[in-house]
Amino acid sequence: MQRITMKAILILILASTFMGVFFKAAVCENIPSGFTLINRAYTFPGNASGCHHAEWRKSPPADATIATYTDHTCTTEEGFEEEFTCKDQHLLLRAARYTDQGRYEFICNTATTATQLDVLYALKLSVDETDSITFSCYSRSAEDVTWLHNKETVLHYTMDGSVIPGKGYEGRASLEKTCFKTGNFSLTICNVRQADAGVYRCFLDDETIKGYPHAYELEVNEKRSSPGDQTHPDCNEATLVLYKTSTVVLGLILVVSVICLIIKLHNCRSTSAPSTHTPENDCMLMSDRTHATDERPPVQESDYTENKPSGTQPIFEI
Ligand SMILES: *[C@@H]1O[C@H](CO)[C@@H](O)[C@H](O)[C@H]1NC(C)=O
Ligand SMILES: *[C@@H]1O[C@H](CO)[C@@H](O)[C@H](O)[C@H]1NC(C)=O
Repeated sequence: MQRITMKAILILILASTFMGVFFKAAVCENIPSGFTLINRAYTFPGNASGCHHAEWRKSPPADATIATYTDHTCTTEEGFEEEFTCKDQHLLLRAARYTDQGRYEFICNTATTATQLDVLYALKLSVDETDSITFSCYSRSAEDVTWLHNKETVLHYTMDGSVIPGKGYEGRASLEKTCFKTGNFSLTICNVRQADAGVYRCFLDDETIKGYPHAYELEVNEKRSSPGDQTHPDCNEATLVLYKTSTVVLGLILVVSVICLIIKLHNCRSTSAPSTHTPENDCMLMSDRTHATDERPPVQESDYTENKPSGTQPIFEI
């Protein structure tokens, strides 16, 4: 009797899991999103070259066919010729208007793929190479913040303190540590490079909510400076604290645990150790001593070669 109940429960759990996955896939269909700026062109992702028959459609409110591809020829439908054209077997929106936002479908033979198009008004900013730039972004309380450069991640920061910098932004991108309290999610990038030019977007809560202002277009001016003028002070100190915090805290935990282990081993060998000192107490003393004599743990030294100790102080308040 019990076995049957167990089996039933197991089947129920399995079934609900499958149903959940299916339901999620069917209802919360994760549509790939694209974006463009107002008055800029946008090429839709569907490539018609491999299709016998293809169609591009705009979903509600104006559910209509924009262009058709048959016999290797693409034709833009009446009423859409001015705004859309076919280019290299792709659909091209010549100059995006705010009303072009929405869901588009690409039907190749019988397979349909959807794209959610976002048309953005971006604030223009310009910066000299090697300088720093701050993009303002504010929002109500959130669980996490994500900054994107074009489509790549610059920085992902969650309320629990985890920081994931994007490729090329390690140690260059920062947010205020208090951002989840203040709602100030402004991003600072220091030592700007030519490759940093492009569109920046501020998102919250798993990229479901837009921060305000949401988008920027950054222009990077080439710096024709003297060869000796290479470093910029802005990248040190406070701006890097956020990114380094997790590394330093982990390193400190490691160092303290090693010290603890050494002390424990030591206590095991020498039975004459004073009984009033528990290993925990020794740990505290040891870490205190480390601060007092300025014998910094190796992790900290390697991480802060250019930083002043003053910038690192709050991290050591354990
Ligand atoms: C479309 O696909 C064809 C064949 O798969 C490829 O040769 C062509 O380069 C693609 N066009 C673009 C613009 O990516
Ligand atoms: C928000 O943070 C940025 C830098 O992180 C700072 O420059 C700006 O002054 C802050 N805004 C306000 C209103 O405090």
